[in-house]
Amino acid sequence: MNFHDRVIAPSLLAADFSNIGGEVARAVAAGADWMHLDVMDGHFVDNISFGPAMVQTVDRASDIFLDVHLMISRPDHYLQRFIDAGSDLITVHVEADHDVAETLRRIRAAGLQAGLALNPATPLAAVEPFLDQIDLLLCMTVVPGFGGQAFMPEVLEKVTAAAEIRQNKNLSFHIEVDGGIDDVTAARSFAAGANVMVAGSSTFRAPDMAAAIAAIRHA
Ligand code: DX5
Ligand code: ZN
Repeated sequence: MNFHDRVIAPSLLAADFSNIGGEVARAVAAGADWMHLDVMDGHFVDNISFGPAMVQTVDRASDIFLDVHLMISRPDHYLQRFIDAGSDLITVHVEADHDVAETLRRIRAAGLQAGLALNPATPLAAVEPFLDQIDLLLCMTVVPGFGGQAFMPEVLEKVTAAAEIRQNKNLSFHIEVDGGIDDVTAARSFAAGANVMVAGSSTFRAPDMAAAIAAIRHA
């Protein structure tokens, strides 16, 4: 996978937690490329979701690529547990309380891909010093914390600006969007320069998950 490939990553947050193995299998059968796992600590965001045990459960249930999004205040402190749990890519927030360059370095040193996220209100300048140290840039298209929120189109300016910097500096990171993604907002996000679409409600809660994923992929 490189940044020219369209990647659809259903968010487990919208799955039926009483049947995680079945839900992951359903996503894989429906054409998911990656599984997106939203880790929330009740401090960095106003919600608590799950931790490394859930990542390990999904890792044991499937071979699908695990895209782990840490919405936690101290990603440096918990990092090793998420590495050990079987993550393939770990994304940390630039706004969190850690040495960003050091955390990214540790993720890559463990043989994983490293992602860096920024909230809608955070300017692109905050992540610019790290763009040569990442495999993925996550531009949040909602204020993180909850699934089912409305897409914020103003974030697309940052997506386009990030894609321009990537081209000018000859870098090669994915650009992921997360929050309020369906076939309509995916079309706008692809056009702006994003290639990885995280989608929770519009995939897991669709009447036909395979059709929903295909609609996003071909948006
Ligand atoms: C938001 C999470 C998202 C969320 C997306 O805090 O990071 O991944 O699950 O959910 P939908 O697709 O329902 O907006
Ligand atoms: Zn997420």
